[in-house]
Amino acid sequence: MTTKNNGLMDTIVGFAKRRGFVFPSSDIYGGFAAVYDFGPYGTELAKNIREAWWRAMVQEHDNIVGLDSSIFMHPKIWEASGHVGGFSDPLSECKNCHTRVRVDHLLEDAGVFADEKMSEAEINALLTEHADKIVCPQCGKSDFAEAKNFNLLVKSNLGNFTGEWDAEPTYLRGETCQGIYVNYKNVLDTTRMKVPFGIAQIGKAFRNEITARQFIFRKREFEQMEMQFFVHPDEAQDTYEQWRAKRWQYYLDLGIKEENLQWHEHENLVFYASAAWDIEYRFPFGFKELEGVHARGDYDLSQHMKHSGAKLLYRDPKTNESFVPHIVETSVGVDRTFLAVLTDAYTEEQLDDGKSRVVLKLPKALAPVKIAVFPLLKNKPELVEKARDIFDTLKKTYMCEFDDNGNVGKRYRRQDEIGTPYCVTVDFETIESGVVTVRDRDTMEQVSVPEGELSDFFAQNL
Ligand code: GAP
Repeated sequence: MTTKNNGLMDTIVGFAKRRGFVFPSSDIYGGFAAVYDFGPYGTELAKNIREAWWRAMVQEHDNIVGLDSSIFMHPKIWEASGHVGGFSDPLSECKNCHTRVRVDHLLEDAGVFADEKMSEAEINALLTEHADKIVCPQCGKSDFAEAKNFNLLVKSNLGNFTGEWDAEPTYLRGETCQGIYVNYKNVLDTTRMKVPFGIAQIGKAFRNEITARQFIFRKREFEQMEMQFFVHPDEAQDTYEQWRAKRWQYYLDLGIKEENLQWHEHENLVFYASAAWDIEYRFPFGFKELEGVHARGDYDLSQHMKHSGAKLLYRDPKTNESFVPHIVETSVGVDRTFLAVLTDAYTEEQLDDGKSRVVLKLPKALAPVKIAVFPLLKNKPELVEKARDIFDTLKKTYMCEFDDNGNVGKRYRRQDEIGTPYCVTVDFETIESGVVTVRDRDTMEQVSVPEGELSDFFAQNL
């Protein structure tokens, strides 16, 4: 059941800007549709999201290696992959206010099953059949032009100096995994990897998304974390199930609430895929795709063999059997993880003293700042100096913040809002007996810790 919470969405968007997590791109020019910038805390959160994924996928698997391929690639890659011919969404225009809409999404909103894989004819038939239910999100009228498939690849003139580049464009990659497929042989030739093995990559991808309505959920420039696992065809099914289980567990380990996650099976598979399931998160606008786990068969390597002429067959060193490996893909966006994590963590709490607080209950590993250090009073040099000493020590291991502005209560609130798990306060007792106060974000409990034991305390707790 999908429930929408537009109030929460507005709150999160406002909060993300106010506290320096996400800014609209080109803000002083009025923004730039479906493009966003991460602010200081957002940059830290996004970095921690990438690191958590990399740890889980590459560091903790001795059969997965990393890659960092370029955004620009040979244009033929996008023909081989099918993107030039078929990477499109059904676009229509409201005849009244000329707002461009993605028809499959409007149909879905009206409770009619539709997706981007349908043909123009199928989509238009549904548009006609359900004409009275399909309303323009801008003006509310139900009068749309015929839908046309609109290709989502973003084009550029890279390396073309003729002025007529549009006829033979270079593309900004529409997904990062193509860089993995075309480097599959390089990786095999230069590492000790043997099938089954995986290649993981994090990087930017670009799509000319038709609608720009859901904050960082659907961006035109976004970031993917993709892993392609190469297996013997006979092992593809089992491997697929194993990755489904692992990726579900990953989100639980990350600290996402299980009630906010669900599986969704694709009803309309692309012809080469044998299975495709999404892990959906309960975003403020309902359950939507967070990650896709796909069994892609041998399509990708076969297509690149056909179009490039390269031999991408794998010869098993034990059995001598040659085959085109099948691929199991896990694909998730940094931005969608960011939005899911922010939504999951955002909490407004009523306190016993009648006041309220906003606290971002982020998993500690993802928190932008791990420890904030305060001198109790800003105008007492001995407190400031001691707090600076502690900050200078802790910052070598953790992302820390020094704050001497306003009273301690206000500093706690500021740190709660950005999800800082611990605050350390230096007061007169610290000068006298070497003990600091450590305050926990979630319980708000305070404990005394000898300054010399702080490193151990945080090693245990962070
Ligand atoms: N290689 C497969 C692939 O790209 P996809 O379902 O199109 O599959 C995978 O994208 C993931 O990338 C999605 O689950 C989502 O997390 C992220 N993603 C896709 N389009 C996005 C967009 N416009 N903005 C933000 N994230 C996006």
